[in-house]
Amino acid sequence: MTAITLVQKVKNLPTVSEAALKLLSLLDQSSVDNEDIVQVLKYDNVLTAKLLRACNSPSLGLQESVSSVDQAVLILGHQQILRLVMTLAFGGITKIASMAYTMEVNELWEHSLVSATAVEIVIADLPESDANASVAFTAGLLHDLGKLVLGQTVGADDLAEIRDRCERKQISGSQAEQEVLGLDHAEVGGALLRSWRLPLGIVEAVENHHRPVTKPEPRLSALVHIANVIAHHASPVPGQNLHDLRVADTVAAEWGINEEKLDHMVGAARQYLEHVERFMAMA
Ligand SMILES: [Fe+2]
Ligand SMILES: [Fe+2]
Repeated sequence: MTAITLVQKVKNLPTVSEAALKLLSLLDQSSVDNEDIVQVLKYDNVLTAKLLRACNSPSLGLQESVSSVDQAVLILGHQQILRLVMTLAFGGITKIASMAYTMEVNELWEHSLVSATAVEIVIADLPESDANASVAFTAGLLHDLGKLVLGQTVGADDLAEIRDRCERKQISGSQAEQEVLGLDHAEVGGALLRSWRLPLGIVEAVENHHRPVTKPEPRLSALVHIANVIAHHASPVPGQNLHDLRVADTVAAEWGINEEKLDHMVGAARQYLEHVERFMAMA
């Protein structure tokens, strides 16, 4: 069993809009023009409609009503627009229930949204990370998509064995997946994003979020790794274990993350929970 064969076996993942994938490749470029974003979005009616609905919902708190993509980009600025579009475009996928993986409808989506928000908090706290905020946000949003693939392609017995090993041996989910399947959800998520031709930085960050890379650059996987831990503290999901709550020693040492710093970032993430829940109810 390889990550690619599992990705090829998935039948039920909704397709991601071409416009969202095009925008993702724009994210990787250092200078993105508002006009480039508008042009890509204009050809996707569904995404445009969702975007305008989001802009006019109370959860965004905009003062004026928004009636066109151009206006939305002008008011929000391209970084915020990109994050909002990524959230709307990929929300449908992470919203899928994966009961086999003991995740209920919306649980993975909430964890993904909190993780994406947490990446921004980490970047604000670690200015030396010099990551592109929209790229990092998107990597946080997509980091656990591999769980959906596993939930749909791996047999119930193997999934039960993974859950059982986590509890019995007190090992991480990713370690238990490695033992039972010979690969983990991070690797599978990376293969899925590669098949969508997402920017390599995002693919690598997703692939390595449980084996974070701190050197050499890029260190996006380490940012997503920390954000995942923050999200587990701020908004616990059923079945999470102690390993979900610890930052890897190498990352903690590299960026001086002690308990106090982690608590501070978790506190900041908690302040966004209500916003995340309001957003989920609307999108
Ligand atoms: Fe994960
Ligand atoms: Fe996660």
